[in-house]
Amino acid sequence: MTKLTTYEIDIVKSDTSKINAVDFDNLIFGRIFTDHMFICDFENNAWQTPRIIPYQAMTLDPSARVFHYGQAVFEGMKAYKDDDGKLWMFRPEDNFNRINKSAARLAMPEFPKEYFFEGITKLLQMDSEWVKPGKGNSLYLRPFIIATDPAISASPSSNYRFMIICSPAKAYYSDKIKVLVAEKFSRSANGGVGFAKAAGNYAAQFYPTSLAQKRGFQQIIWTDADTHEKLEEAGTMNVFFRVNDALITAPVSDRILDGVTRKSIIQLAEDNGIDVEIRPITVTELKKASRNGSLKEIFGTGTAAVISPISAFEHAEELFELPNIENSYADTLKDKMLNIQHNLAEDKHGWRYEV
Ligand code: COI
Repeated sequence: MTKLTTYEIDIVKSDTSKINAVDFDNLIFGRIFTDHMFICDFENNAWQTPRIIPYQAMTLDPSARVFHYGQAVFEGMKAYKDDDGKLWMFRPEDNFNRINKSAARLAMPEFPKEYFFEGITKLLQMDSEWVKPGKGNSLYLRPFIIATDPAISASPSSNYRFMIICSPAKAYYSDKIKVLVAEKFSRSANGGVGFAKAAGNYAAQFYPTSLAQKRGFQQIIWTDADTHEKLEEAGTMNVFFRVNDALITAPVSDRILDGVTRKSIIQLAEDNGIDVEIRPITVTELKKASRNGSLKEIFGTGTAAVISPISAFEHAEELFELPNIENSYADTLKDKMLNIQHNLAEDKHGWRYEV
């Protein structure tokens, strides 16, 4: 291993690369990681010098609080390569702000902006071969923070580790998905952590989602915990409903994640003259719209999922199929967003960030 340089970040470069063993045409989401990872530890009340080192397993004390209390938050971001080989990210400042909002809610220290941006930039430059050009290709970046204190008292940690790992990715779902509308289980509650990208928010969905999957549904659309009437978000995505020509999505709240893709799609829809309604939408309204033919589309949005069309939903053991429509909002808006992300279209909102 060669020590490259020491300025803001200590860097140890890997002697070898795993890249030639990777089949980039047949990627399963989140299984393969690039050659390097970024680490920064919080000790003695301060973030220490960040490091980039070869991707590897790490050792933590079994009593580390993350294992016992789930004090962990994360982000999902993507890097893209254009046809000239330039690297781009999409609205990274929003992810930076959100990881710190999530961290604050879980009593974790905020991560400094310079470290976040320098870390990602340097890591991407070192692993740039892993970002393949072409629409649909991307490198998924997973920043996360975990509580590392070796102590099992139920209180916030004093020590933390911030890391970024990277995984080449296409869209999370390759086909249209079927979803179940939640009637019994809940994802989040008022005053809770639903808005945060807290690791436990995802773990808590695994059991109900696995029950849904056994019945042929890929995801659950979560409803509000009090009435199970208001449609909120799906496990890995925010959700949009097209009724006639209007595009409806629930307002963000302390129960719903403020998705970067969600707000980009709202903006792109408005830019293209689509009537967007940000308001609560109920299961009753959705079923009525499906029965009278005004429900045209449902789709999910997320960094990993991109835009994922939904072909059917089930509620109270009744299945509602969505029509197959031409010029769907999902396809049109996805194309517009990918064109901006891949530097193929004008970026009038300044969302693209050159690495
Ligand atoms: C993302 O879209 O980046 C997410 O965090 C979803 C992930 C749980 C697959």
